[in-house]
Amino acid sequence: MQRGPQTLISERDTEALAAAMAQAWREPLLVYLSGDLGVGKTTLVRHLLHAFGHHGSVRSPTYNLVEPYALGIGPVFHFDLYRVQDPEELELIGWRDYLAEAALCLVEWPERAQPLLPQADVEVALQLHGHQRSATLQAQGERGSAWMQRLLWPLGLAS
Ligand SMILES: Nc1ncnc2c1ncn2[C@@H]1O[C@H](COP(=O)(O)OP(=O)(O)OP(=O)(O)O)[C@@H](O)[C@H]1O
Ligand SMILES: [Mg+2]
Repeated sequence: MQRGPQTLISERDTEALAAAMAQAWREPLLVYLSGDLGVGKTTLVRHLLHAFGHHGSVRSPTYNLVEPYALGIGPVFHFDLYRVQDPEELELIGWRDYLAEAALCLVEWPERAQPLLPQADVEVALQLHGHQRSATLQAQGERGSAWMQRLLWPLGLAS
């Protein structure tokens, strides 16, 4: 099941996407965010965390690999696997425990840890063509598909 591509003209559109994604959440989800350097993965994560009630700053855990957040929906983990050289690094931080506990796992650069990671429930592919950003969402499995059916689409965009 797929939604998009959806053009994201400004960061306010990314915020609208995050709001819709949060609104559709009912049960634990594993979400992969893919796309080139600087395409807007962390920006989407930041707006998602805010949509789930996080008030503080959001920095990408490029060195720690994972940043935990205790939010209203439960534990949320933001992974940034850009610097992972060997999937063994994920075993060392105990990624399976994070996945088992999470209400929501958001993973930037999941391809760095292949073939270790399981299939995502939702994959968000971000793209940048010139100055134009877009997002395409793909859902797999029962949880991902159920989530996508609740996702209000098309988005109510601001810009
Ligand atoms: N929808 C958008 N419209 C305009 N600018 C945006 C949008 N989304 C993100 N940006 C800008 O793009 C820049 C890079 O964004 P971000 O750090 O989120 O990218 P990233 O994909 O996480 O990069 P990395 O691969 O390095 O982790 C930021 O300055 C951000 O403000
Ligand atoms: Mg990032």
